[in-house]
Amino acid sequence: MLKSKNMLTLKGQRLASRSDSVETDLLLWWEDFYLPIFEYILPKMGELKGKKVLELGTGTGGTATLLAKRGAAVVGIDLLPFRLAEAKERAAEYDVAESVKFALMDAMHLAFPDNTFDFIISKSVLVFTEHTQTAKECYRVLKPGGKAIFIENMKHHPAVWLYRKAFLKYSGKLHYFSLRDVEAVGAEFEGLEHREFHLSSVSALFWQKCISIPLFYRWTFRILKAIDTSLLKCLPFLKRFCWITAMVCHKN
Ligand SMILES: C[S@@+](CC[C@H](N)C(=O)[O-])C[C@H]1O[C@@H](n2cnc3c(N)ncnc32)[C@H](O)[C@@H]1O
Repeated sequence: MLKSKNMLTLKGQRLASRSDSVETDLLLWWEDFYLPIFEYILPKMGELKGKKVLELGTGTGGTATLLAKRGAAVVGIDLLPFRLAEAKERAAEYDVAESVKFALMDAMHLAFPDNTFDFIISKSVLVFTEHTQTAKECYRVLKPGGKAIFIENMKHHPAVWLYRKAFLKYSGKLHYFSLRDVEAVGAEFEGLEHREFHLSSVSALFWQKCISIPLFYRWTFRILKAIDTSLLKCLPFLKRFCWITAMVCHKN
């Protein structure tokens, strides 16, 4: 059974539920951290009514459902049948079952004809794949004028690196992104815009995960996010140490 919509928004420590514009309960995990990223990418997608969207590695279908709720016809693919079953349940729970189809498929070998989708999106999925192979497949199935949007985890954030070493046994097998990897994915398309997120703001998690003081968490997160914005503007080389990158790749 999926967590109900209400349960997902009840956690008082989360900032994300305060936003009116993004359906934050559908961000599913690290909502506060993904909210600014969705606020960056959704305007790049524009009006979604009638648009065909492919989500790679849909997992339990949060993003697919979010985009379907905005009017898109979405196909979510994943390698794990039990995840797809949950994703289907989620789409039904949010009344968009008609607009989302799910399929068992490998993102590196897409069973769609060329020029099929207006948008492709993925969140924490390319790290499981060979980046360039996946990017080439995405380019092939995107319509001319389409965009592929990849939200991915980066390699060099010191605290995140330590956390992965200590707690994520499988992390050694994943292909986390450096800025060079971002450029390499972009090189498979005609255009690339990218923005990196979360440098010092990650340390706000201390007040959520280690010593749970919601008020401290909320305030430190807000302050550190603002500091990150200024820091990354003044010292762009620090982007390589961010936690997450959002790439928007354009096909002419
Ligand atoms: C970290 S989860 C992210 C799930 C979802 N995007 C989200 O943000 O909630 C990664 C997902 O990618 C899927 N995945 C990994 N490799 C894949 C591949 N080659 N093709 C399709 N899906 C893949 C996994 O099964 C998993 O559901």
